Amino acid sequence: MGLSAVKSDSVPYKRKERIGEATLYLADSLAVLPTLGEVDAVITDPPYSSGGQFRGDRSQRTASKYQGTEYRDRYRDFTGDNRDQRGFHFWSTLWLSRCREIAAEGALCVLFTDWRQLPVTTDYIQAGGFVWRGIGVWDKGEATRPQLGRFRHQAEFFVWGSNGPRPLVGPAAPGVIRAPVIGREKQHMTEKPVSVFQVINSIAGRTVLDPFMGSGTTGVAALQLGRRFVGVELDPHYFDVACRRIEAAQARPMINAVAALPETKQDSLL
Ligand SMILES: C[S@@+](CC[C@H](N)C(=O)[O-])C[C@H]1O[C@@H](n2cnc3c(N)ncnc32)[C@H](O)[C@@H]1O
Repeated sequence: MGLSAVKSDSVPYKRKERIGEATLYLADSLAVLPTLGEVDAVITDPPYSSGGQFRGDRSQRTASKYQGTEYRDRYRDFTGDNRDQRGFHFWSTLWLSRCREIAAEGALCVLFTDWRQLPVTTDYIQAGGFVWRGIGVWDKGEATRPQLGRFRHQAEFFVWGSNGPRPLVGPAAPGVIRAPVIGREKQHMTEKPVSVFQVINSIAGRTVLDPFMGSGTTGVAALQLGRRFVGVELDPHYFDVACRRIEAAQARPMINAVAALPETKQDSLL
């Protein structure tokens, strides 16, 4: 694969891979974040610790919480997803504060979450020191499972903000991103489509950080748009998946993100 691995007991990571414009760490984010250089955006889909109100609900296998029974053993379970609500809020504030310490002034911050954890995510973005600026929607469409007498859970959310003031420049990104899940391409049970992260990365700066990269989707999109990428993942299996996807992404031609977005002019409200 042409990867260069660094191994040492004195560093806060188990592996570090440099693949073109990407640097990937097999590590606990909390340990490695303070050692990283400045980043221009934090874009991440962290563990949600969702699946119910109580610790008992949350400590089930991630496959039981997030997969239908027919797909339960299709993906490997992932780690870090079983905190109770107080622990989740505290831990999320901690890692996000560490992200803010290395974020450039005005850096974009985008945090994925589901309907249950939306309120705590709007709390921890602020507790972590970012200016909370809004909520966006990822609309998965009608392919999600219908439930009789209930509303379909067809959306996930991204809470976004910035590290202090953010200038009104650059392209304008949509607040609702419509993209179906493409099951046959998925390698991680909570993997989002690359197109969702292309839209989000289109207003990111030069260097994008994902402290919970999973199979590396944020990085694939960032590299396709000509950004640099720094990714962290704790699970060796998903780290290897991310390395492979990121190497493949660099071999493909870049996308012009600005051209892909609808032309918009900053205007006063009617
Ligand atoms: C929701 S998934 C991200 C999925 C990703 N968006 C994708 O497209 O594949 C969150 C990831 O965070 C990883 N994780 C959990 N705790 C971690 C930690 N302390 N440091 C780094 N990664 C961690 C999990 O192993 C999991 O792969």
